[in-house]
Amino acid sequence: MYKQGPIGVFDSGYGGLTVMKELVKKLPQYDYIYLGDNARAPYGTRSFDTVYHYTLECVQHLFDMGCRLVVLACNTASAKALRSIQQNDLPRIDPDRRVLGVIRPTAEIVGNYSKSRKVGVMGTAGTIASESYPIEIEKFFPDITVHQQACPMWVPLVENNEWNDAGADYFIRKYIGQLLSRSPDIDTIVLGCTHYPLLLNKIKRFVPEGMTILSQGTIVAESLADYLQRHPEIEAVCSKNSTRTFYTTDAPEGFDKQASVFFDAPVTSKHLSL
Ligand code: DGL
Repeated sequence: MYKQGPIGVFDSGYGGLTVMKELVKKLPQYDYIYLGDNARAPYGTRSFDTVYHYTLECVQHLFDMGCRLVVLACNTASAKALRSIQQNDLPRIDPDRRVLGVIRPTAEIVGNYSKSRKVGVMGTAGTIASESYPIEIEKFFPDITVHQQACPMWVPLVENNEWNDAGADYFIRKYIGQLLSRSPDIDTIVLGCTHYPLLLNKIKRFVPEGMTILSQGTIVAESLADYLQRHPEIEAVCSKNSTRTFYTTDAPEGFDKQASVFFDAPVTSKHLSL
């Protein structure tokens, strides 16, 4: 039996905290280590190769800190790095460790919400260009048509604490308008970026009434609970002392203030040098 370790949660910056908040709510008994690569965020505009290398480096750090299971709480990393890490790197590093993403759990349930079978996906330019959502959703719900919209300004608005200002409205309205112009029948929108839940209240104001908007935190938490139930060998190596530890690759002072908004609770982080 392997030594037990915390569940690692990774994101390019703050966004993954919206997922970790729900993981902690749903599965409070486990230990968690969060790592935000704030020094190199955003990832959404970077190439496949860069996102892959950055993500792999961070996953390796989480493994070095004892994690046997890591959740990529970032759509861009899930879209551009997860498959290579699972298929090429894990067998070499340690075939008994696991890395999971956020796109598949979302794709698995989206068809349960849409009546019109027209779904909109909003994400970073990288996630949208990867076509990961249409590919994954097709596997579970081949009758659904996916319309995608890149929202390159949304992560900067959130990362720079500007999402509540009037200036944010322009870009929120703009991308929603562009998405809905592709098909007026879209009845379900996936917020395919872990930063976007912070924009949820504003997004709701600019979509037609009755639109279902899916944020990923609770979806990923449900999916992880189910995964751990189906994989008792992985569950057994997750330590259970309810600790939460936070690392950022940038300065902790700046991180903590912003992070507590995403996590909805005080955060005290440590610096991780890459
Ligand atoms: N949080 C990331 C995601 O879910 C994107 C942020 C970034 O561009 O770094 O896609």
